[in-house]
Amino acid sequence: MTRDGQRVRGRSRRRGTDDSPGAGWVGPQPGEATGPLLRAVGLTRVYGQDESVVWAVDGVDLDVPAGQALAVTGPSGCGKSTLLQLLGGLDRPTEGEVWLGGRRVDDLGERALARLRRRTVGFVFQAYHLMDELTAAENVELPALLAGASPRTARNRAAELLDQVGLADRARHLPSELSGGQRQRVAIARALVNEPLVVLADEPTGNLDSAATLDILRLFGELRAAGQTLVMVTHDERVAATADRVVSLRDGAVADDTRLHGNDGGTGHGHGSSTGLGSLLSWED
Ligand SMILES: Nc1ncnc2c1ncn2[C@@H]1O[C@H](COP(=O)(O)OP(=O)(O)OP(=O)(O)O)[C@@H](O)[C@H]1O
Ligand SMILES: [Mg+2]
Repeated sequence: MTRDGQRVRGRSRRRGTDDSPGAGWVGPQPGEATGPLLRAVGLTRVYGQDESVVWAVDGVDLDVPAGQALAVTGPSGCGKSTLLQLLGGLDRPTEGEVWLGGRRVDDLGERALARLRRRTVGFVFQAYHLMDELTAAENVELPALLAGASPRTARNRAAELLDQVGLADRARHLPSELSGGQRQRVAIARALVNEPLVVLADEPTGNLDSAATLDILRLFGELRAAGQTLVMVTHDERVAATADRVVSLRDGAVADDTRLHGNDGGTGHGHGSSTGLGSLLSWED
C-alpha cells in the first residue's frame, strides 16, 4: 500500500554493525527458546520513497510456535513474499523486529545473518531455484558444505534426504532432467539438509499440477508430523487447508488469523537437532 512517505523520510534505521555472534554460533539451540520459535514485532518494510513509497509489510505482529504449520495467504501484492523474506533474514525490515528461537536476528550483521540463514532457515521457492549445472544430489549437498559439513557427511545426508523425498533414483540427474514436482522435492530436500529450525516456503506448489501438488503436500504433512515448523505462502486453498493456522494479509497487514487444527505448537516435539526428522520423514508410494 502507498502512503505519505513522511514516516520514513529522514529516518536511518538501526542496522547491526557487528558480526556477533561469533563464528561458532549456529543459531538458537534446541531447548533455548522460551517463547515462540519465530516472532515478528511491528514488522514493516517500506520500498521507495515520497510519491512512490510502498508499504509492502505494515506493522505485522506474528508469533509462530515451534511445530506449527502456518499458511500465509492474501491477494497478489499484499506483502506475502516480503514478509517471508523478512522472517527468513533475506531482507531487512524498515521497522520492527524478527526473533528466531528467542533471539533477535534482524539487527545481526551481514555475516552473522548469512550464517543464521544457512543453518537455521530452509527456503523453498515457487521457481525451485536449483543450480542448473549441479545434480540433484549436489544441489542438496551444497548448503551443508557451505555450513561446514564434511563432503562425506554432506553426501550421506543428501542421499538420505533424496531417498526420503522419493528421488533416490534421480540423485545424479540435472534439474533439467526432472519434472516440476521432482525439482520441488529436491528443493525441499535442500531446504532440510541443515536441519533448519523453520522451513519457509513461498508458493511451493505454484508451478505444479494437481498430482505434483499432492506429492508436495504429503511431504509437508510428513514434515509437520515430524515437528518441523513451517511457514508457507500460498494462493491455493487446498494447500492452506493443510496448515494448522492461516494468516491472511491485506495491504501488508494481518487481516485475519484463523486456527484450523489443534496444533498450537505446544506439542513439545518441536524442532531439535535430534528430533529424528529423518526417521519420521518417510516417503513411500
Ligand atoms: N523491490 C521492490 N521495490 C519496490 N516495491 C516492491 C519491491 N518488492 C515488492 N514490492 C511491492 O511490495 C508489495 C508486496 O509485494 P510482495 O511481493 O510481497 O507481494 P505478494 O503478496 O508476495 O504478491 P504475489 O502473490 O503476487 O507474489 C507489492 O505492492 C510490490 O509491488
Ligand atoms: Mg509473492
